Amino acid sequence: MMEEACVEVRVPGDKSITHRALILAALARGTSELRGLLPAEDPNTTARVLRALGCAIPELPRNGAAVRVAGRGLDGLREPADTLDCGNSGTTARLVLGVLAGFPFAASLTGDESLRSRPMRRVTEPLARMGACIEELGEPDRLPVRVRGGVLRPLDYDSPKASAQVKSALLLAGLTGGVRVSVAEPVRSRDHTERLLRAMGAHVILTQQPRGGASVRLEPPRFLEPLELTVPGDFSSAAFFIALGLLAPAGGIRIPGVGVNPTRTGLLEVLRRMGAEPAVDAPRGVGSEAVGVILARPAPLRATEVSDAEIPMLIDEVPVLAALASRAEGETRITGARELRVKESDRLAALAANLRAIGVEAEELPDGLVVRGTERPLRGRVRSFGDHRIAMAFGVLGALPENEIEVEGADVVSISYPGFWEELRRCAAALMP
Ligand code: S3P
Repeated sequence: MMEEACVEVRVPGDKSITHRALILAALARGTSELRGLLPAEDPNTTARVLRALGCAIPELPRNGAAVRVAGRGLDGLREPADTLDCGNSGTTARLVLGVLAGFPFAASLTGDESLRSRPMRRVTEPLARMGACIEELGEPDRLPVRVRGGVLRPLDYDSPKASAQVKSALLLAGLTGGVRVSVAEPVRSRDHTERLLRAMGAHVILTQQPRGGASVRLEPPRFLEPLELTVPGDFSSAAFFIALGLLAPAGGIRIPGVGVNPTRTGLLEVLRRMGAEPAVDAPRGVGSEAVGVILARPAPLRATEVSDAEIPMLIDEVPVLAALASRAEGETRITGARELRVKESDRLAALAANLRAIGVEAEELPDGLVVRGTERPLRGRVRSFGDHRIAMAFGVLGALPENEIEVEGADVVSISYPGFWEELRRCAAALMP
Protein backbone atom coordinates (compact mmCIF):
# COMPACT_ATOMS: atom_id res chain seq x y z
CA MET A 1 0.00 0.00 0.00
CA MET A 2 1.22 3.48 -0.85
CA GLU A 3 2.03 5.63 2.16
CA GLU A 4 -0.25 8.63 2.19
CA ALA A 5 1.48 11.91 1.50
CA CYS A 6 2.92 13.90 4.35
CA VAL A 7 2.90 17.65 4.65
CA GLU A 8 6.26 19.14 5.56
CA VAL A 9 6.52 21.85 8.21
CA ARG A 10 9.65 23.78 9.16
CA VAL A 11 9.29 25.20 12.64
CA PRO A 12 11.17 28.34 13.71
CA GLY A 13 14.25 28.29 15.92
CA ASP A 14 14.22 27.12 19.51
CA LYS A 15 13.16 29.88 21.89
CA SER A 16 15.15 28.68 24.92
CA ILE A 17 18.34 28.29 22.88
CA THR A 18 17.85 31.66 21.14
CA HIS A 19 17.66 33.53 24.49
CA ARG A 20 20.75 31.76 25.76
CA ALA A 21 22.75 32.14 22.54
CA LEU A 22 22.14 35.90 22.54
CA ILE A 23 23.04 36.31 26.22
CA LEU A 24 26.14 34.14 26.06
CA ALA A 25 27.32 35.71 22.80
CA ALA A 26 27.05 39.11 24.50
CA LEU A 27 29.37 37.81 27.24
CA ALA A 28 31.89 36.11 24.95
CA ARG A 29 35.36 37.34 24.09
CA GLY A 30 35.13 37.80 20.32
CA THR A 31 32.44 37.70 17.67
CA SER A 32 29.84 34.92 17.61
CA GLU A 33 27.97 33.83 14.51
CA LEU A 34 24.40 32.69 15.21
CA ARG A 35 22.06 31.19 12.64
CA GLY A 36 18.43 30.14 12.87
CA LEU A 37 17.64 32.43 15.81
CA LEU A 38 13.93 32.65 16.55
CA PRO A 39 12.64 36.00 15.27
CA ALA A 40 9.73 36.29 17.70
CA GLU A 41 8.67 38.69 20.44
CA ASP A 42 10.35 36.96 23.39
CA PRO A 43 13.83 36.73 21.81
CA ASN A 44 13.41 40.30 20.49
CA THR A 45 12.93 41.29 24.13
CA THR A 46 16.20 39.63 25.13
CA ALA A 47 17.97 41.35 22.22
CA ARG A 48 16.54 44.73 23.28
CA VAL A 49 17.59 44.24 26.91
CA LEU A 50 21.13 43.28 25.85
CA ARG A 51 21.33 46.39 23.65
CA ALA A 52 20.33 48.51 26.65
CA LEU A 53 23.24 46.87 28.49
CA GLY A 54 25.67 47.99 25.80
CA CYS A 55 25.89 45.01 23.44
CA ALA A 56 25.14 45.82 19.78
CA ILE A 57 22.80 43.00 18.76
CA PRO A 58 21.51 43.31 15.19
CA GLU A 59 17.81 42.90 14.36
CA LEU A 60 16.91 39.19 14.37
CA PRO A 61 16.37 38.30 10.69
CA ARG A 62 13.08 36.71 9.60
CA ASN A 63 14.83 34.02 7.53
CA GLY A 64 17.26 32.59 10.06
CA ALA A 65 20.26 34.19 8.33
CA ALA A 66 23.49 34.57 10.29
CA VAL A 67 23.70 37.26 12.95
CA ARG A 68 27.10 38.42 14.19
CA VAL A 69 27.35 39.48 17.80
CA ALA A 70 30.49 41.21 19.04
CA GLY A 71 30.78 40.01 22.63
CA ARG A 72 31.57 42.45 25.45
CA GLY A 73 33.38 39.90 27.60
CA LEU A 74 32.38 38.66 31.04
CA ASP A 75 32.74 42.11 32.60
CA GLY A 76 31.84 44.34 29.65
CA LEU A 77 28.16 45.16 30.06
CA ARG A 78 27.29 48.69 31.14
CA GLU A 79 24.71 50.28 33.38
CA PRO A 80 21.41 50.75 31.51
CA ALA A 81 19.95 54.25 31.19
CA ASP A 82 16.39 53.04 31.85
CA THR A 83 14.39 50.26 33.43
CA LEU A 84 14.82 47.02 31.45
CA ASP A 85 11.42 45.96 30.12
CA CYS A 86 11.28 42.17 29.83
CA GLY A 87 7.84 42.23 28.19
CA ASN A 88 6.14 38.83 28.44
CA SER A 89 9.37 36.87 28.73
CA GLY A 90 10.07 35.02 31.97
CA THR A 91 13.27 33.58 30.51
CA THR A 92 14.60 37.08 29.74
CA ALA A 93 13.80 38.39 33.22
CA ARG A 94 15.22 35.46 35.16
CA LEU A 95 18.34 34.89 33.08
CA VAL A 96 19.18 38.59 32.93
CA LEU A 97 18.80 38.87 36.72
CA GLY A 98 21.46 36.17 36.94
CA VAL A 99 23.77 37.96 34.50
CA LEU A 100 23.41 41.29 36.33
CA ALA A 101 24.20 39.75 39.72
CA GLY A 102 27.87 39.75 38.70
CA PHE A 103 28.01 43.44 37.67
CA PRO A 104 28.73 46.28 40.09
CA PHE A 105 25.99 48.62 38.84
CA ALA A 106 22.29 48.89 39.52
CA ALA A 107 19.55 47.98 37.05
CA SER A 108 15.79 47.69 37.37
CA LEU A 109 13.72 45.09 35.57
CA THR A 110 10.02 45.04 34.86
CA GLY A 111 7.61 43.31 32.49
CA ASP A 112 4.06 43.25 31.16
CA GLU A 113 1.08 42.47 33.37
CA SER A 114 1.49 38.71 32.95
CA LEU A 115 5.20 38.77 33.75
CA ARG A 116 4.63 41.10 36.72
CA SER A 117 2.33 38.45 38.20
CA ARG A 118 4.98 35.69 38.04
CA PRO A 119 7.26 34.71 40.94
CA MET A 120 10.83 36.01 40.95
CA ARG A 121 12.14 35.00 44.39
CA ARG A 122 13.01 31.58 43.00
CA VAL A 123 15.97 33.42 41.41
CA THR A 124 16.37 36.54 43.53
CA GLU A 125 16.68 34.58 46.80
CA PRO A 126 19.64 32.41 45.75
CA LEU A 127 21.18 35.42 43.98
CA ALA A 128 20.92 37.41 47.23
CA ARG A 129 22.58 34.48 48.98
CA MET A 130 25.48 34.89 46.57
CA GLY A 131 25.76 38.53 47.63
CA ALA A 132 23.68 40.42 45.05
CA CYS A 133 21.57 43.29 46.42
CA ILE A 134 18.00 42.83 45.33
CA GLU A 135 15.24 45.28 46.08
CA GLU A 136 11.61 44.51 45.31
CA LEU A 137 10.09 47.73 43.97
CA GLY A 138 6.46 46.55 43.95
CA GLU A 139 4.75 43.46 45.36
CA PRO A 140 6.78 40.81 47.18
CA ASP A 141 8.17 38.11 44.90
CA ARG A 142 7.28 40.08 41.77
CA LEU A 143 8.79 42.45 39.24
CA PRO A 144 9.74 45.27 39.21
CA VAL A 145 12.98 44.60 41.06
CA ARG A 146 16.27 46.44 41.25
CA VAL A 147 19.47 44.45 41.29
CA ARG A 148 22.94 45.63 42.16
CA GLY A 149 25.56 42.96 41.89
CA GLY A 150 29.25 42.90 42.27
CA VAL A 151 31.37 40.79 44.54
CA LEU A 152 29.71 37.39 44.78
CA ARG A 153 30.28 34.32 46.93
CA PRO A 154 30.25 30.76 45.55
CA LEU A 155 26.94 28.95 45.87
CA ASP A 156 25.86 25.35 46.42
CA TYR A 157 22.16 25.43 45.76
CA ASP A 158 19.64 22.67 46.33
CA SER A 159 16.78 23.85 44.16
CA PRO A 160 13.35 22.79 45.45
CA LYS A 161 12.02 22.57 41.89
CA ALA A 162 13.25 21.52 38.49
CA SER A 163 13.59 24.84 36.69
CA ALA A 164 15.95 25.58 33.84
CA GLN A 165 15.40 29.28 34.37
CA VAL A 166 16.54 29.10 37.99
CA LYS A 167 19.48 26.84 37.16
CA SER A 168 20.53 29.05 34.24
CA ALA A 169 20.23 32.29 36.22
CA LEU A 170 22.55 30.91 38.90
CA LEU A 171 25.08 29.55 36.41
CA LEU A 172 25.10 32.95 34.67
CA ALA A 173 25.68 34.69 38.00
CA GLY A 174 28.63 32.36 38.63
CA LEU A 175 29.93 33.25 35.20
CA THR A 176 29.74 37.05 35.48
CA GLY A 177 30.61 37.01 39.19
CA GLY A 178 33.58 34.69 38.63
CA VAL A 179 32.56 32.23 41.35
CA ARG A 180 31.86 28.51 41.48
CA VAL A 181 28.17 27.59 41.44
CA SER A 182 26.50 24.25 41.77
CA VAL A 183 22.78 23.64 41.40
CA ALA A 184 21.01 20.40 42.30
CA GLU A 185 17.51 19.70 40.99
CA PRO A 186 14.97 17.02 41.98
CA VAL A 187 14.42 16.17 38.30
CA ARG A 188 16.69 17.26 35.51
CA SER A 189 15.47 20.35 33.62
CA ARG A 190 16.45 21.35 30.08
CA ASP A 191 20.21 21.66 29.77
CA HIS A 192 20.75 24.11 26.90
CA THR A 193 22.74 26.55 29.05
CA GLU A 194 25.18 23.85 30.11
CA ARG A 195 25.66 22.66 26.52
CA LEU A 196 26.33 26.15 25.22
CA LEU A 197 28.70 26.95 28.07
CA ARG A 198 30.70 23.83 27.27
CA ALA A 199 30.76 24.73 23.58
CA MET A 200 32.27 28.07 24.66
CA GLY A 201 35.01 26.39 26.64
CA ALA A 202 33.63 26.48 30.19
CA HIS A 203 33.81 23.54 32.60
CA VAL A 204 30.33 22.39 33.50
CA ILE A 205 30.21 19.13 35.38
CA LEU A 206 27.01 17.07 35.58
CA THR A 207 26.43 14.60 38.40
CA GLN A 208 23.38 12.35 38.07
CA GLN A 209 21.62 11.67 41.33
CA PRO A 210 19.45 8.76 42.29
CA ARG A 211 15.78 8.95 41.21
CA GLY A 212 16.26 11.23 38.22
CA GLY A 213 17.79 14.22 39.98
CA ALA A 214 20.95 15.88 38.82
CA SER A 215 23.41 18.48 39.88
CA VAL A 216 25.51 20.77 37.68
CA ARG A 217 28.61 22.64 38.71
CA LEU A 218 30.26 25.51 36.89
CA GLU A 219 33.92 26.31 37.42
CA PRO A 220 34.04 29.95 36.38
CA PRO A 221 36.11 30.46 33.23
CA ARG A 222 38.31 33.52 32.70
CA PHE A 223 36.53 34.13 29.40
CA LEU A 224 34.08 32.50 26.98
CA GLU A 225 35.06 31.60 23.43
CA PRO A 226 32.66 33.02 20.83
CA LEU A 227 29.88 30.75 19.58
CA GLU A 228 29.39 29.31 16.11
CA LEU A 229 25.83 28.05 16.27
CA THR A 230 22.84 26.99 14.23
CA VAL A 231 19.78 26.97 16.45
CA PRO A 232 17.60 23.89 15.85
CA GLY A 233 13.84 24.08 15.30
CA ASP A 234 11.86 24.39 18.51
CA PHE A 235 10.44 21.07 19.72
CA SER A 236 7.78 22.98 21.66
CA SER A 237 6.57 24.61 18.43
CA ALA A 238 6.82 21.30 16.56
CA ALA A 239 4.57 19.73 19.23
CA PHE A 240 1.52 21.55 17.83
CA PHE A 241 2.11 20.09 14.38
CA ILE A 242 2.87 16.65 15.82
CA ALA A 243 -0.58 16.88 17.41
CA LEU A 244 -2.15 17.94 14.11
CA GLY A 245 -0.47 15.01 12.35
CA LEU A 246 -1.83 12.56 14.94
CA LEU A 247 -5.37 13.95 14.94
CA ALA A 248 -5.73 14.49 11.18
CA PRO A 249 -7.99 11.97 9.40
CA ALA A 250 -5.23 10.92 6.96
CA GLY A 251 -1.75 11.76 5.72
CA GLY A 252 0.74 12.99 8.28
CA ILE A 253 3.20 15.72 9.11
CA ARG A 254 6.96 15.64 8.66
CA ILE A 255 9.04 18.17 10.57
CA PRO A 256 12.74 18.31 9.70
CA GLY A 257 15.45 20.08 11.68
CA VAL A 258 13.85 19.84 15.12
CA GLY A 259 15.90 19.91 18.32
CA VAL A 260 15.40 16.54 20.04
CA ASN A 261 17.41 17.14 23.20
CA PRO A 262 16.06 14.45 25.58
CA THR A 263 15.42 17.04 28.31
CA ARG A 264 12.75 18.46 25.99
CA THR A 265 11.07 15.52 24.25
CA GLY A 266 9.09 13.93 27.10
CA LEU A 267 5.90 14.41 25.06
CA LEU A 268 7.03 11.71 22.58
CA GLU A 269 7.16 9.08 25.31
CA VAL A 270 3.68 10.04 26.53
CA LEU A 271 2.33 9.89 22.97
CA ARG A 272 3.72 6.38 22.57
CA ARG A 273 1.84 5.34 25.70
CA MET A 274 -1.28 6.88 24.16
CA GLY A 275 -0.91 4.58 21.14
CA ALA A 276 0.75 6.94 18.68
CA GLU A 277 4.00 6.19 16.92
CA PRO A 278 5.76 9.49 16.42
CA ALA A 279 9.06 8.70 14.70
CA VAL A 280 12.29 10.59 15.16
CA ASP A 281 14.53 9.83 12.18
CA ALA A 282 18.21 10.33 11.87
CA PRO A 283 19.01 12.31 14.96
CA ARG A 284 22.42 13.90 14.51
CA GLY A 285 24.42 16.32 16.56
CA VAL A 286 24.36 19.88 15.30
CA GLY A 287 26.84 21.68 17.47
CA SER A 288 25.92 20.97 21.03
CA GLU A 289 22.37 19.77 20.37
CA ALA A 290 20.74 16.73 18.72
CA VAL A 291 18.53 17.47 15.72
CA GLY A 292 16.17 15.07 13.94
CA VAL A 293 13.21 14.68 11.61
CA ILE A 294 9.89 14.05 13.31
CA LEU A 295 7.11 12.20 11.57
CA ALA A 296 3.58 12.16 12.99
CA ARG A 297 0.82 10.10 11.39
CA PRO A 298 -2.82 9.69 12.44
CA ALA A 299 -3.43 7.23 15.27
CA PRO A 300 -6.32 6.40 17.57
CA LEU A 301 -5.27 7.69 20.98
CA ARG A 302 -6.03 6.31 24.43
CA ALA A 303 -5.86 8.17 27.72
CA THR A 304 -2.81 8.08 29.94
CA GLU A 305 -1.43 9.33 33.23
CA VAL A 306 1.39 11.84 33.50
CA SER A 307 2.94 12.73 36.84
CA ASP A 308 5.78 14.62 38.58
CA ALA A 309 8.83 12.88 37.18
CA GLU A 310 7.78 13.44 33.55
CA ILE A 311 6.61 17.05 33.85
CA PRO A 312 9.95 18.87 33.49
CA MET A 313 10.62 17.13 30.16
CA LEU A 314 7.27 18.29 28.76
CA ILE A 315 6.62 21.38 30.86
CA ASP A 316 5.62 23.54 27.88
CA GLU A 317 3.69 20.75 26.15
CA VAL A 318 0.91 20.34 28.72
CA PRO A 319 -1.47 22.59 26.73
CA VAL A 320 -1.08 20.54 23.56
CA LEU A 321 -1.21 17.32 25.57
CA ALA A 322 -4.53 18.40 27.09
CA ALA A 323 -5.81 19.12 23.56
CA LEU A 324 -4.76 15.62 22.47
CA ALA A 325 -6.36 14.11 25.57
CA SER A 326 -9.70 15.64 24.56
CA ARG A 327 -9.57 13.34 21.49
CA ALA A 328 -8.27 10.23 23.29
CA GLU A 329 -10.40 7.36 24.54
CA GLY A 330 -10.76 7.55 28.31
CA GLU A 331 -9.68 9.88 31.06
CA THR A 332 -6.22 11.45 30.99
CA ARG A 333 -4.82 12.52 34.32
CA ILE A 334 -1.97 15.01 34.61
CA THR A 335 -0.54 15.69 38.10
CA GLY A 336 2.59 17.21 39.62
CA ALA A 337 2.17 20.21 37.32
CA ARG A 338 1.54 23.01 39.83
CA GLU A 339 4.19 25.10 38.03
CA LEU A 340 1.71 25.54 35.19
CA ARG A 341 -0.19 27.97 37.37
CA VAL A 342 2.66 30.48 37.10
CA LYS A 343 3.45 30.32 33.39
CA GLU A 344 2.38 32.99 30.87
CA SER A 345 -1.14 32.28 32.20
CA ASP A 346 -2.52 29.95 34.87
CA ARG A 347 -2.44 27.16 32.32
CA LEU A 348 -4.39 24.65 34.41
CA ALA A 349 -7.29 27.08 34.85
CA ALA A 350 -7.07 28.25 31.23
CA LEU A 351 -7.09 24.69 29.87
CA ALA A 352 -9.99 23.55 32.03
CA ALA A 353 -12.09 26.62 31.15
CA ASN A 354 -11.38 26.34 27.43
CA LEU A 355 -11.96 22.58 27.26
CA ARG A 356 -15.32 23.00 28.94
CA ALA A 357 -16.17 25.89 26.61
CA ILE A 358 -15.92 23.51 23.63
CA GLY A 359 -17.81 20.65 25.27
CA VAL A 360 -15.03 18.56 26.81
CA GLU A 361 -15.34 17.34 30.39
CA ALA A 362 -12.32 18.63 32.26
CA GLU A 363 -11.55 18.92 35.94
CA GLU A 364 -8.92 21.20 37.39
CA LEU A 365 -6.80 19.68 40.19
CA PRO A 366 -4.61 21.82 42.46
CA ASP A 367 -1.57 20.46 40.61
CA GLY A 368 -3.02 19.15 37.39
CA LEU A 369 -5.91 18.35 35.15
CA VAL A 370 -8.25 15.49 34.32
CA VAL A 371 -9.55 15.43 30.74
CA ARG A 372 -12.22 13.04 29.50
CA GLY A 373 -11.81 12.36 25.79
CA THR A 374 -14.75 12.61 23.44
CA GLU A 375 -15.48 11.91 19.78
CA ARG A 376 -18.14 14.61 19.57
CA PRO A 377 -17.38 17.64 17.40
CA LEU A 378 -15.82 20.37 19.52
CA ARG A 379 -17.44 23.74 19.08
CA GLY A 380 -17.27 27.05 20.86
CA ARG A 381 -15.26 30.09 21.72
CA VAL A 382 -12.07 29.87 23.77
CA ARG A 383 -9.65 32.50 25.08
CA SER A 384 -5.89 32.61 24.75
CA PHE A 385 -5.60 34.21 28.21
CA GLY A 386 -2.70 36.13 26.66
CA ASP A 387 -0.78 32.86 26.44
CA HIS A 388 0.77 31.75 23.14
CA ARG A 389 0.72 28.05 23.93
CA ILE A 390 -2.94 28.07 24.99
CA ALA A 391 -3.85 29.79 21.70
CA MET A 392 -1.89 27.27 19.60
CA ALA A 393 -3.21 24.19 21.44
CA PHE A 394 -6.83 25.18 20.72
CA GLY A 395 -5.86 26.29 17.22
CA VAL A 396 -4.86 22.70 16.45
CA LEU A 397 -8.21 21.34 17.68
CA GLY A 398 -10.01 24.02 15.67
CA ALA A 399 -8.18 23.02 12.49
CA LEU A 400 -9.77 19.55 12.48
CA PRO A 401 -12.65 19.23 10.01
CA GLU A 402 -15.40 18.37 12.48
CA ASN A 403 -14.59 21.16 14.94
CA GLU A 404 -15.44 24.86 15.02
CA ILE A 405 -13.39 26.77 17.56
CA GLU A 406 -12.85 30.48 17.71
CA VAL A 407 -9.72 31.56 19.59
CA GLU A 408 -10.00 35.02 21.13
CA GLY A 409 -6.67 36.82 21.45
CA ALA A 410 -5.04 34.60 18.82
CA ASP A 411 -2.34 37.18 17.92
CA VAL A 412 -0.39 36.24 21.03
CA VAL A 413 1.31 33.42 19.08
CA SER A 414 3.86 36.06 17.97
CA ILE A 415 5.56 35.53 21.35
CA SER A 416 7.10 32.28 20.12
CA TYR A 417 5.78 31.45 16.64
CA PRO A 418 5.00 34.29 14.23
CA GLY A 419 3.34 32.75 11.18
CA PHE A 420 1.76 29.91 13.19
CA TRP A 421 -1.78 30.53 11.93
CA GLU A 422 -0.72 30.67 8.27
CA GLU A 423 1.25 27.45 8.66
CA LEU A 424 -1.66 25.76 10.43
CA ARG A 425 -4.07 26.80 7.67
CA ARG A 426 -1.67 25.55 5.00
CA CYS A 427 -1.35 22.13 6.69
CA ALA A 428 -5.06 21.83 7.36
CA ALA A 429 -5.86 22.64 3.72
CA ALA A 430 -3.38 20.03 2.50
CA LEU A 431 -4.41 17.28 4.91
CA MET A 432 -8.13 17.92 5.10
CA PRO A 433 -9.19 19.44 1.75
C1 S3P B 1 12.49 27.74 30.02
C2 S3P B 1 12.28 26.95 31.13
C3 S3P B 1 10.94 26.51 31.56
C4 S3P B 1 9.93 26.67 30.44
C5 S3P B 1 10.02 28.00 29.77
C6 S3P B 1 11.39 28.18 29.15
C7 S3P B 1 13.86 28.14 29.71
O1 S3P B 1 10.54 27.30 32.66
O2 S3P B 1 8.63 26.47 30.92
O3 S3P B 1 9.05 28.12 28.75
O4 S3P B 1 14.13 28.60 28.57
O5 S3P B 1 14.71 28.02 30.59
P1 S3P B 1 10.97 26.94 34.18
O6 S3P B 1 12.42 27.09 34.30
O7 S3P B 1 10.22 27.93 35.02
O8 S3P B 1 10.48 25.54 34.38
